[in-house]
Parts: sequence; C-alpha cells; structure tokens
Amino acid sequence: MKSIKDVNFKGRKVLLRVDFNVPVDDNKNITDDTRMRESMPTINKLLADGASIIIMAHFGRPKKGGFEPEFTLEPVAKHLKELTGRDVKFTQALLGSGEPENMAAELKDGEIMLLENIRFYPGETKGDEALAEQLSKLGDCYINDAFGAAHREHSSTAVIAKFFPNDKYFGFLMENEVRNLEKLMHDAPRPFTAIIGGSKVSSKIGILENLIDKVDNMIIIGGMRYTFTKSLGGKIGNSICEDDKLDLARDLMRRMDEKGVKYYLPVDSVIGDKFGNDANTQIVASGEVPDGWESMDCGPESCKAIRDIIMQSKTILWNGPAGVFELSTFAKGTNEIALSVADACKQGCFAAVGGGDSVAAVKQMGLADQMSYVSTGGGAMLEYLEGKVLPGIKAIQE
Ligand code: 3PG
Repeated sequence: MKSIKDVNFKGRKVLLRVDFNVPVDDNKNITDDTRMRESMPTINKLLADGASIIIMAHFGRPKKGGFEPEFTLEPVAKHLKELTGRDVKFTQALLGSGEPENMAAELKDGEIMLLENIRFYPGETKGDEALAEQLSKLGDCYINDAFGAAHREHSSTAVIAKFFPNDKYFGFLMENEVRNLEKLMHDAPRPFTAIIGGSKVSSKIGILENLIDKVDNMIIIGGMRYTFTKSLGGKIGNSICEDDKLDLARDLMRRMDEKGVKYYLPVDSVIGDKFGNDANTQIVASGEVPDGWESMDCGPESCKAIRDIIMQSKTILWNGPAGVFELSTFAKGTNEIALSVADACKQGCFAAVGGGDSVAAVKQMGLADQMSYVSTGGGAMLEYLEGKVLPGIKAIQE
C-alpha cells in the first residue's frame, strides 16, 4: 500500500482529494463533521512536513454545470479553518477564470487552499481526462483520502492519478479503511458474523452473495427480513416486502445452508398500527403479523438471540439497522445490537460498522468510539463488500 507515512512532503504542493460531503442543516451548519475530522491526520501530517495543500472535494450532486449557491463548499471552508486553526484560502471562482490557478501558484508551504465543489465541473463525474489534467497542473503530487467517493471513477477521485505515476498515495483515512476492509474480507478471525439490515433485499443482494463465502453467521434484520419471512410462508401483515425477491430470498437461504453458513431471522417483532412514535404496538411472532399491522423492529426474544451470536463472534460486520430506529418507539432492537456489539468489542472482537443508518445509530447511542472501526463510506463500503474493485483505490495501487 502506498502510504504517506514514510514520505516527507516538505516543500511539495500536494493535491489532496477528500470526501467532505457532510450533512448540513437548513442554515448550512454542518451537523456531522466526522468525515472532515477523519481526514485531519492526513492534513496535519502534510502541514507538519511543511507542504502546501490544495484540497479537492465534492458536495452533493449539482447537475447544472457551473456554480450553484446551494452546493458551495463555503461552509466546509469555514469549518476547515476551525479544525486546522489556520487560514483556508477559498474562492468560488472556477478553474479557467485564473483565480484558483493563481491562488494555487502562490500557495506557500504550510498553507491550505480549498477548491470550490469539484462537481461544478461537468467533466468530473464523467471522469473527463482533460479536467483531470487541468487539476493535476495545480500541484506536484496526489493523495487520495476520499474513501467515501472511492467507488466513483471521477476525474478527481481516479483519473487524475495517472498524471502522477510515481507520486500518488493513499491518505491515512483511506489507508485505514482499506486495511480494515481487507481484514474483514481476507483475514477475519472466526467466528465471523455479518449483521445485515435495511429496508430492501434488492439493495443488499451483492453484499449477501459475496458474504456467503466469507462468514460463519448471517443475521438478517430490518425491513428486508420480511421478504425472507414471507418466502418461508410467514404472514407479514403490512410489513415491507419485495414480492419479486421471494425466490431470491429462498435461493440465498438454500446457498447459505449448502455452505454451512448459519443464518438467523428474528423470531419476534415489534409491530405498529401506523408509522409514527404514537403508534399502538404489540410484540408478535415474526411470521404472524396481523393484517393492518406493520413490523418495525426486532422483538425481545430476537434481541436476546442476536446478542448471544454477537457475543460468541470474533469478527462482526454490521450494515443496516434492525428497525425504524429514527422513531424512538421502534429503536430498541437497533440500540440493543449497538450495545451488544460494543460489549463484544470489549472482549476483543473486531467489529466494523458501515452504512449511513447503522453508523447514525451507533453515533446516536454514543458508541461510535467503542467500535473497532466505523467506515466513512456508504456506497463505497457497500461496493467493496460486494467484492467490487473501487476505482479510487485501484488508481493508486496500479
Ligand atoms: C457519499 O456521501 O456517499 C459520498 O460522498 C459519495 O457521494 P455520491 O453518492 O454523490 O457520489
């Protein structure tokens, strides 16, 4: 792995791609700066070496081509100043105007500059080579620390690397993500348990299929488990279900049986008569949900059984919540899983958490720092776990 650890960047003009695609509220206040903080070790190392840094980042999915106020990186620039305690040079002018080019050319050692949202250039998401070359001319080496965007073959995440064949590196965040994911996929201490949730089987087919060959236990939770329950003949009332995936669910279970993977479907459910915290609730067996009721969380028997599996595991991968955890009435199953995984970590288990909702759940519980590893990537982590080669990683490794 090409790490920056052993390289001294003194006097270098570093082009650093980060994923600062952070959530903001209506007033553009950043509501979770984890991705920014996780790239600080890379930024601090470069500053300590005496490099100057030109940061490239995207924000949202602007589509018009050119500057759009809604997607400006200005709030990120402001927050980066606070995190670094240094001035962050920033202009909303785009390349071609001469302004960012001059700013980059005049950047001195120890200074930081942030380019405006890289997706304001229509070529970025197309992986346009001319844009990649234009960007490459701003600096003299390239570091990719944007794991969250590593599944995108864009100009600044992948294509640009070809202009630095001998001077391209992973940042510390990226290195950490890759190391942890490789451990999960190729060197996981056993027993290895995957806890896969979320609302749709269809969005998790790739990961389920890839994990069948890797794990000892597969715990299937969240709304997607109802497609499995129904495929086994259970009554699921109004619970979420993908009827066109019933055969697939049966096939996945058959393949897990064949491979000796023990799969676990929750045996009981917390059901509600409407989608809201004020719903009437009952606890019923998972395959006996009455019509007019919807299952929205795991029940207590399931939580207990899941905890037992978790506590016997040496490796855990958790992707997707157990229920509608954003509603406190239906958050217990997800919260209990978070607590159990934290307890397993205390006894030496390696636990990785990824995917927006499960990460939000461990953060909401204040347990993020008790996990072995919380990924900064949503789609990127999922694609990695599906066994895909991520262009942002490949571009540095080749
Ligand atoms: C993310 O938020 O998952 C990454 O920043 C990638 O964003 P994208 O899905 O818009 O490419």
